[in-house]
Amino acid sequence: MKVLLFGKGGQVGWELQRSLAPLGELVALDFDSTELHGDFSRPEALAATVEAVRPDVIVNAAAHTAVDKAESEPDFARALNATAPGVVAQAAQKLGALMVHYSTDYVFDGSGDTPWREDDATGPLSVYGATKLEGEQLVAGHCERHLIFRTSWVYAARGGNFAKTMLRLARERERLTVIDDQWGAPTGAELLADVTALAIRETLRDPAKAGLYHLVAGGTTTWNGYARFVVEEALRRGVELKTTPDAVEAVPTSAFPTPAKRPHNSRLDTSRIRSTFGIELPHWQAGVARMLAETL
Ligand SMILES: NC(=O)c1ccc[n+]([C@@H]2O[C@H](COP(=O)([O-])OP(=O)(O)OC[C@H]3O[C@@H](n4cnc5c(N)ncnc54)[C@H](OP(=O)(O)O)[C@@H]3O)[C@@H](O)[C@H]2O)c1
Repeated sequence: MKVLLFGKGGQVGWELQRSLAPLGELVALDFDSTELHGDFSRPEALAATVEAVRPDVIVNAAAHTAVDKAESEPDFARALNATAPGVVAQAAQKLGALMVHYSTDYVFDGSGDTPWREDDATGPLSVYGATKLEGEQLVAGHCERHLIFRTSWVYAARGGNFAKTMLRLARERERLTVIDDQWGAPTGAELLADVTALAIRETLRDPAKAGLYHLVAGGTTTWNGYARFVVEEALRRGVELKTTPDAVEAVPTSAFPTPAKRPHNSRLDTSRIRSTFGIELPHWQAGVARMLAETL
């Protein structure tokens, strides 16, 4: 079996290089790959890459993920998040390949406090959310055999992340102020990559499992709860910090104005993926604790 991966250097792409390798021959590309074109800002050239590789499975981890920046460059964000995945999906359909794509909790408007289900009405609040929604619609519309995973608050041990920023600040300051009115689940790139590999195997065996799924770690929290847990866990591991968990002050989103509006309720209901693939999704704290153990 042959697998083509786009966006190999991102948080999820990096972990996919590990988790997809046992499935078969893996061709992994980034936007600056030289032998084969993997640049999503030139969508029209991507079909030739798919035709040259002739993969059985295509996994797209490339995206424009700079949520605030997207507000001022909507055309670029749309090319990366919608047009390019659409072109790849058309090429996948021609070959009869399975296409895997990632989307986001930002397709929802964040109202209410119940977890969103896959078929709930969407209502993106930002350019990022709108372009990601268009991307998932194009992938589903063009490629019959697809797996689309909507996820949220992705972190990885490699590179910068929210937890590392909180730790840096907690070493420097006695108090932190972190927003407490956006709810979601911090989700590890490792978990996404492992579930992706498993779901690919299952869907190749049983094509009826193709479709749209919510995929996030178990439990929910706010950014404030996430920050408190990071501080608590670091102190437990003997890291010297100036901040204690109780000194992580809760503030509303309005305390930190940003160009892009974020949803307050990013809780995602994962019943569909858990029952279809017979998996458990570990609590977010387990993944964050593991990432901290690797990082500290
Ligand atoms: N991060 C989150 O919190 C989050 C939340 C919900 C959903 N998601 C979705 O999950 C998926 C993976 O996200 P991630 O966290 O792994 O994002 P990421 O770390 O930002 O990775 C995105 C990848 O896309 C690459 N890329 C940028 N411009 C490109 C271009 N012109 N052509 C091809 N590739 C390009 C990036 O390369 P460079 O690093 O070299 O720029 C990077 O390798 C995305 O679909 C994202 O929308 C992410």
